[in-house]
Amino acid sequence: MNAMTLPEPAFPATTAPPYFDVRDIHAYYGESYIVQGVSFAIQKGDVVALLGRNGAGKTSTLRTLARALDPELKRGEIWLDGEPIHKLKDFQAARHGVQIVQEDRRIVPGLTVEQNLVLAQIAEPKGWPLEKIYERFPRLAERRKQDGVTLSGGEQQMLAVARALARDVKLLLLDEPYEGLAPVIVQEIERIVQEIKMLGITTIIVEQNAVAALELANRALILDMGQIVFDGAAGAVLEDAALRNEYLAI
Ligand SMILES: Nc1ncnc2c1ncn2[C@@H]1O[C@H](COP(=O)(O)OP(=O)(O)OP(=O)(O)O)[C@@H](O)[C@H]1O
Ligand SMILES: [Mg+2]
Repeated sequence: MNAMTLPEPAFPATTAPPYFDVRDIHAYYGESYIVQGVSFAIQKGDVVALLGRNGAGKTSTLRTLARALDPELKRGEIWLDGEPIHKLKDFQAARHGVQIVQEDRRIVPGLTVEQNLVLAQIAEPKGWPLEKIYERFPRLAERRKQDGVTLSGGEQQMLAVARALARDVKLLLLDEPYEGLAPVIVQEIERIVQEIKMLGITTIIVEQNAVAALELANRALILDMGQIVFDGAAGAVLEDAALRNEYLAI
């Protein structure tokens, strides 16, 4: 060893900074303090199940991460692939790859399926081209000329997911994608979500059906009263009946 040899790094070179890093975020609806110091970090390609009882703060957390106007982020940092998302507004966060699919799906009324997809691609950078979307979502191809709001609930959910993929997606936030859908449609959406996972798209999925979400995910976060009470492997939650009883009521 000569004097010029650098010491071994404290961490192996493979310890990259987290792809998505949430640092002590606090968010409010007016005076209501809801997201109360949430921190977690996830790696590229992770599929994270975000779980918790009704009112635990799952939707509020996703909306905070997507930089929605409410709840208002008042403290903390959100980093995605080196970008300070906490400094951005919702549309800017979307441009940097944060795509949220909200429970109400937000299909633009008066526009056809295709126009909804084209609208998603107005701003650069674009995601999947329409041909690829139609190949993966044949039902949407069949209904491309139909007004988006006349689709069935399941088809609207597909359109909402497809619209997220039409954008440049680095982080996909899914809020109860199976909510209110018939079992056969749930299976179809599940196949799409599986495919999103296979494509390596980093995803956070909120789902009432915790078992379904945990079987899909590799990581789990459990929220309770606006705070993270569990952060670990999805399999660990499946195996821990006491934890599920306490926070998930399953
Ligand atoms: N727009 C709002 N204004 C004020 N408080 C709100 C608003 N939206 C939600 N809250 C409150 O924030 C808390 C967390 O709600 P949130 O919708 O994030 O929970 P959740 O975990 O998504 O629940 P669910 O499983 O029912 O979807 C609840 O106490 C709720 O009443
Ligand atoms: Mg919710």
